[in-house]
Amino acid sequence: MTSLDTSLIIFQPSGRQGRVETGITLLDAARQLGVDVDSVCGGRQTCGKCKVIVERGEFAKYGIQSDPQHVSAATADENDYFRRHPSKFSAGGRLSCVACIAGDVVITVPPESQQRKQVIGKSAGNRPIEIDPILHQYYVEVEPHTLGERRGDWERLQEALAREWGLQHLTIDIVALRQLTNALKAGKHKVTVTVYGGKGQESRIETQGSSIKPPAPFMAKVLDVRGGFHEGLYGLAVDVGSTTVAAHLIDLTTGETLATEAAMNPQVSFGEDLMSRVSYVMMNGNDGLRKLTQAVIGTLNTLVEKAAKRAKISVTEIYEAVIVGNTVMHALLLGIDPTELGAAPFTLTTHAPIDVRASDLGLRLHPAANVYLPALEAGHVGSDNLGVLIAEAPERQDAITLLIDIGTNAEIVLGNRNGLWSCSSPTGPAFEGGQIAHGQRAAPGAIERVRIDPATGVPKFKVIGNEAWSDTLSPDAVGATGICGSGIIEVVAELFRAGLLRSDGRFVENLEWKMENGKLDISNSQSPISNPQSHLRWQGVKAEYVLATAAQSATGKDIVITQDDVRNIQLAKAALHAGCKLLMNGLGVSKVDKIVLAGAFGSYIDPLHAMILGLIPDCDLATVVAVGNAAGDGARIALLNKTRRAESAPFARDGHYIETAIDPNFQQEFVGAMHLPHMTDPYPTLRALGVLPAKSASESDGRSARRERRRERQEKF
Ligand code: FES
Repeated sequence: MTSLDTSLIIFQPSGRQGRVETGITLLDAARQLGVDVDSVCGGRQTCGKCKVIVERGEFAKYGIQSDPQHVSAATADENDYFRRHPSKFSAGGRLSCVACIAGDVVITVPPESQQRKQVIGKSAGNRPIEIDPILHQYYVEVEPHTLGERRGDWERLQEALAREWGLQHLTIDIVALRQLTNALKAGKHKVTVTVYGGKGQESRIETQGSSIKPPAPFMAKVLDVRGGFHEGLYGLAVDVGSTTVAAHLIDLTTGETLATEAAMNPQVSFGEDLMSRVSYVMMNGNDGLRKLTQAVIGTLNTLVEKAAKRAKISVTEIYEAVIVGNTVMHALLLGIDPTELGAAPFTLTTHAPIDVRASDLGLRLHPAANVYLPALEAGHVGSDNLGVLIAEAPERQDAITLLIDIGTNAEIVLGNRNGLWSCSSPTGPAFEGGQIAHGQRAAPGAIERVRIDPATGVPKFKVIGNEAWSDTLSPDAVGATGICGSGIIEVVAELFRAGLLRSDGRFVENLEWKMENGKLDISNSQSPISNPQSHLRWQGVKAEYVLATAAQSATGKDIVITQDDVRNIQLAKAALHAGCKLLMNGLGVSKVDKIVLAGAFGSYIDPLHAMILGLIPDCDLATVVAVGNAAGDGARIALLNKTRRAESAPFARDGHYIETAIDPNFQQEFVGAMHLPHMTDPYPTLRALGVLPAKSASESDGRSARRERRRERQEKF
């Protein structure tokens, strides 16, 4: 039903509808009704981004009959476009910039034509991302220069961008200015312009050359001008970890990840962990700093080249990179001396977000490309943690969420929409296999899963690269090389669960293998009876547990867990747990609703074993989730959504932060957390599951401690 000069138009899937003037284009109607439809070429029928579907049929819900005939016939240019791009053609498909309304219609805007597209990420978290990047490309027609005209090409381009796209307050990068005149010539006054700009950038530090400018009123900037119509707007999301550097090449118009490349961080050869790299700079001065910076930049350039090659694009079409990393990685990437981060009070050079020209860092992207480094939170909480926050968005949720990213430092955030608290805890290298007799990084052959039979004390395990449990394989087919982080957590938790370890972390002496209600009762531990198959062996006063026999190992030697290994795991997990408790105390809660394990390591941790160990506080196990590389996902989101990027900076600036190194309660929390799973926390979830050994946890600790002290006194006298 149409009135004399207006038509009813309904846009799907948004459901927006209204009467618009008959005769205007579908694109104009969409704009009037606030429907996002993409349009890169400004209606020149060259980009195809504005394609919509004109539906046919009775739409009783809206009381109209929709028909492709209710819009104007396709033009020759439009037909030509679909002939040249057959993949874009579909029944009812029209370019909305050219199809004019002739009657009531229902229009579907397909996902690829929605300006703010929602894409489902390919990450472990599969997070939806609204595509609203800070970079856009515009196709414009610039008035030719006429004799006597005093305006230059740049002034006429500004006027065209203002007239056709409403862009104001533009500046132009010298790289684009150098391209401009020839691009106008080549494109016969029609050019594709890449513009960096958007709201929410006002508080950043901008760098130009080597000097830092104070924040200026925001101005959009032209980075690139190419003759004619050109499509190709790409960005890079990078996570620079202490061990691994990962780069994702992303199409900024579709949100699609086109290629992912990763490599070992070459700085490992200068120092395994962060502090050894800081020491390297302290000992070698500027020369050492330069080497570390060049090493990581060189690796990034290699990753960029590989990714671009895989995606079949030019590196000069990559206009921005978002890079996250811990504070030391951040400093070393920028060539900033990290020495102050190596000791209290852990001074940051800046914790504000940074924009820096890629070429100033030596990164080979587009010559005017920007690199954005999100804010740092504190001396030990870097932008990788902010990436986790951007990805997980706990500040938008009611559930009190505990976010844990485990590395040599655990970065921890707790809170919900009512407030967020963060800290960093010095877990050390134990979870990465460091300070563990047979510890190693996750690699084929590393023991990653462990189970110990409480009735016999005999273990079985799985190694990376083989899905079979060791007890189903002949010993020489096992080939265990060592124990990686997840295996270390499981073996200690299983030793405790099986009753071979006390709650205080000491191996149980003179164990009598007495079963009580199907569980091992270690309270009768005075009898000198040992199970010869228990794999627990004593050397003097020290014990070790044989996890893999010499026949099962690739080295031909037993793979064991020593008393010192257990102690180092206790120290690491106690540091993490104490950090969690400080945050819980800060927020004023005794329980969390949800635990999110971020980082590659978090994906391999079994939540039950992490809880038996006391690595994480008590929580419904169903709400403990691993989200993979959330820091990298956060970088991807910051690249694709300028609003989310801008929202993250205030948290880094204003969020509550606890400096564990000087917090007066840390030591007390740490001591309590040394026990398995904890000296005083009751862990009702584990008790309900019946997975704690009988009389071995906190309620028997007093008795164990008394017995232990008695034994020590007897030894002395
Ligand atoms: Fe480019 Fe319609 S806006 S084809």
